[in-house]
Amino acid sequence: MKKKTNNIKLISTGKYIPNDVITNEDLEKIVDTSDEWIYTRTGIKERRRAKDETTSDMATNAALDAINKVGYDKNKIDIIIVATFTPDVASPSVANLVQAKLGLNDRDVVCFDINAACTGFIYALNVASQMLNAGFYNSALVIGSESLTKVVNFQDRNTCVLFGDGAGAFIIENTEENKPAYFYTSSKGDLEEVIIVDPLIRMEGRKVYHFATKILEKSVNEVLEKSNTSIEEIAMLIPHQANARIIESAAKSLNLGLDKVYMNIDKYGNTSSASIPIAVDEYLATLEDKQDKKLVLVGFGAGFTWGAALLTL
Ligand SMILES: CC(C)(COP(=O)(O)OP(=O)(O)OC[C@H]1O[C@@H](n2cnc3c(N)ncnc32)[C@H](O)[C@@H]1OP(=O)(O)O)[C@@H](O)C(=O)NCCC(=O)NCCS
Repeated sequence: MKKKTNNIKLISTGKYIPNDVITNEDLEKIVDTSDEWIYTRTGIKERRRAKDETTSDMATNAALDAINKVGYDKNKIDIIIVATFTPDVASPSVANLVQAKLGLNDRDVVCFDINAACTGFIYALNVASQMLNAGFYNSALVIGSESLTKVVNFQDRNTCVLFGDGAGAFIIENTEENKPAYFYTSSKGDLEEVIIVDPLIRMEGRKVYHFATKILEKSVNEVLEKSNTSIEEIAMLIPHQANARIIESAAKSLNLGLDKVYMNIDKYGNTSSASIPIAVDEYLATLEDKQDKKLVLVGFGAGFTWGAALLTL
């Protein structure tokens, strides 16, 4: 009989948002677009650009935010996983660079990156949780960090309005407490280049839109079914921030009021694997009592990849 439940404690979260803002009005000066078009089609008002920071700088800053928030002893970290498809260099991994920047080079730490596009953080959290629950490690730093403005074609109005930069981080630990975590992850290889980064982002937006609305709903239902949880028991659904219309349409299909769906896409656009941990960090900052609340995180993206996680705070 396969073990189906993990007990995972979310110890802390953190984020790093670069200072440089690109507004819709800024983009109006570069391509044939308008604030009205962008906002009504996507819900985005502005996004950030990492001008001087690398992906590993942002990842390190998000990690430090999570560490400092709870005064965490960084020497406890056994695993660093970074979800990204915009690494500083092909090798070493961003996770290795974060290890060095956190001053953990004299520790035994397992470091590697995961590329599952915008589902990367869900995949990374799943992998880290399985490693912890296997019993050989106790603490994992899981980060999503992306420098998407470096792979955006600023001459293509179909895509350049959508993406931004940033990083988010979780510290999770094995626990004896009753903190069940459930995961559902899947994929379907895309040979038709519906969404591809080579070397810049190209995308057939309509096709991605239809895929995303269906798969978001399916992923949430899968993780609810696995965990035997009803949607009413969820404190907040925190989706990957790709498009407000995708999220609203999926929420409607799920019969979930928008007060139970977290959105911050207006401020940051689509930050790929960073969007979910940034959103969780911002949501948790609004909570006075976190105890035992259940969150569903859901992601979808290129690959195609998709997945959801149910966490108990
Ligand atoms: C990209 C997206 C916002 C486009 O919205 P849409 O309603 O599907 O729009 P379409 O692509 O059908 O384009 C409609 C028109 O707007 C135009 N258009 C595209 N981008 C534009 C922009 N930034 N400003 C103004 N017009 C634009 C198109 O050229 C097209 O014009 P045409 O009718 O003259 O050919 C939407 O398809 C989407 O969000 N897709 C999912 C993308 C995504 O989330 N990707 C990441 C997944 S993790």
